[in-house]
Amino acid sequence: MCGIVGYIGEKPAAPIVLEGLAKLEYRGYDSAGIAVYDGKEIITKKAAGRLAVLENLTHSGENMPGFSAIGHTRWATHGVPSDLNAHPHTNGDGTIVVVHNGIIENYMALKNKLLGKGYSFASETDTEVLAHLLDYYYKGNPLQAITKVLHRVEGSYALGIMFADHPEELYAARKESPLIVGHGEDGCFIASDVPAILKYTRKVYYLENQEIAMLKKDEVSFFTVDEEPTEKQAVTIDWDANAAEKAGYEFFMLKEIYEEPKTVTDTISPRIKNGEVVIEELNMTDDELKAISRIHIVACGSAYHTGVTAKYIIEGMLRIPVEVDVASEFRYRDPILSPSDLVIVVSQSGETADTLEAVRESKAKGLKVLAIVNVVGSSIARESDSVFYTWAGPEISVATTKAYSAQLAAFYLLAIRFGRARGVIDDARMKSLLEDLQALPDQIELLLGQKEKIQHFANRYIAAKDVFFIGRGIDYAIGLEGSLKLKEISYIHSEAYAAGELKHGTISLIEPGTLVVAVATQPDLFAKTVSNIEEVKSRGAFVMAVAERGRKEIEKAADYVLYIPHTNPYFANSLAIIPLQLFAYYVSVGKGYDVDHPRNLAKSVTVE
Ligand code: M6R
Repeated sequence: MCGIVGYIGEKPAAPIVLEGLAKLEYRGYDSAGIAVYDGKEIITKKAAGRLAVLENLTHSGENMPGFSAIGHTRWATHGVPSDLNAHPHTNGDGTIVVVHNGIIENYMALKNKLLGKGYSFASETDTEVLAHLLDYYYKGNPLQAITKVLHRVEGSYALGIMFADHPEELYAARKESPLIVGHGEDGCFIASDVPAILKYTRKVYYLENQEIAMLKKDEVSFFTVDEEPTEKQAVTIDWDANAAEKAGYEFFMLKEIYEEPKTVTDTISPRIKNGEVVIEELNMTDDELKAISRIHIVACGSAYHTGVTAKYIIEGMLRIPVEVDVASEFRYRDPILSPSDLVIVVSQSGETADTLEAVRESKAKGLKVLAIVNVVGSSIARESDSVFYTWAGPEISVATTKAYSAQLAAFYLLAIRFGRARGVIDDARMKSLLEDLQALPDQIELLLGQKEKIQHFANRYIAAKDVFFIGRGIDYAIGLEGSLKLKEISYIHSEAYAAGELKHGTISLIEPGTLVVAVATQPDLFAKTVSNIEEVKSRGAFVMAVAERGRKEIEKAADYVLYIPHTNPYFANSLAIIPLQLFAYYVSVGKGYDVDHPRNLAKSVTVE
């Protein structure tokens, strides 16, 4: 959600910044802009639409010479996507230029004050207030003006700032929105995320809340919001730049689906030692695990769906009550929390604003927070008490696939570890659980081999208007994710229902030919789900079922069946989701959509 890239150094800045913005496209955006100091003044160019529009406008940066620049991809919050609302924003004479990710909550009050002082505004954005407020406070010392502004604004921000009369400096600051600073051989960088600058440097500083960075071409210094200098440790990024490239796949989503066997292996393997699950980063003793009386799982979107799955597993396997909350609800419903409760938050990006607030809310109430996170060093990872990293590598496509699978695997491991500590998993059961767990990557590989079959089926449904996903128990949780995948990238309306709930209203929507995807992997619920298939069939639905291999009887009820290999029913989601991800992918490809960048969506949702 919004991308920032800035550079100051020895090389032409605009091409570096544009290239960096392209690496952040996955975050989602609807306009883009760049400002370059050309030796005399700061030149700004911006345009609504894809980055390609800005690249054309600037000839890939070649007609914007200069050695310092800031660029931005905007995901609209205040004001429609347009040339005028695109960042950078400037003060009246264009001598102060700002790019911003986040929301300035008190921008209206500040704007009214500035209007009263004679300032005029060109855009509808909250960000423009920052440019004028900087102008108001600027008396020749950039750091002083920035700190004064930061003391006045409420809300969240990651900022890149240039001052025309300090062209040898570039400034950055953050609060609640992620921002990193990179120090390379030929210059220094700011960026919303590592892939934007990985080509140039692996030496990265993660800015803390209300920290300010001053970049020169060969040095970086950091300050508090009270202008005090601070010392920071650089982190060396050890992942491969190729991990963030498409590697011949048409879309990142397909590449990431194909990475799922490895992702699941990478999440599981290091945590199985001598026949036991060892999660060192958990930082909890067996006694502490035994003392947990309730678990709250808090997350958004697909991460929330892994929580719904985990509820069935943890309650079924461990008999610990679990509550699963969408993070934006958890914060405001004043949840009843007791000291013996554990909060587990789940987030690929580690930056989702509502999930981060759930961490803070829970910690403020004295609870221990365990985070299942993919992005190392992200805000949620840093603020939680313990972090279970999923090691899925960078996930670029907005629609999550491999990170989702890694989160499921994390929950399996946690459930087994908790179960051992609480004495509910004996040695024989442990052996069988681990065998099934370790078989998952190969089984996912097998399912990927069905890609053509699924593509063929998907092509029949590219014109569908409505699709319903049904299932019971864990199959319902699988349906939730299958349905989200389909709707977010194909724009086909789809809904997931607990199969038994359908006849309480939704069944009236079934018409001849309506596609119903029935997930029936859970042995205990199989017969019940088959009855629900019969119900929709008799109203004319076309039913595609996902069932375990050997369950041939489902062919009598469903029109089309995809089989998954046998596994422990608790782990079935990891297998059943693969054909559903592929189905959504191929429907979107069939409709000619930009699969990795669905409209209106952002990879990292850093606003409430
Ligand atoms: O980064 P997070 O895991 O916290 O993101 C949560 C959701 O925004 C995310 O899972 C979203 O639903 C996916 N893009 C859906 O594919």
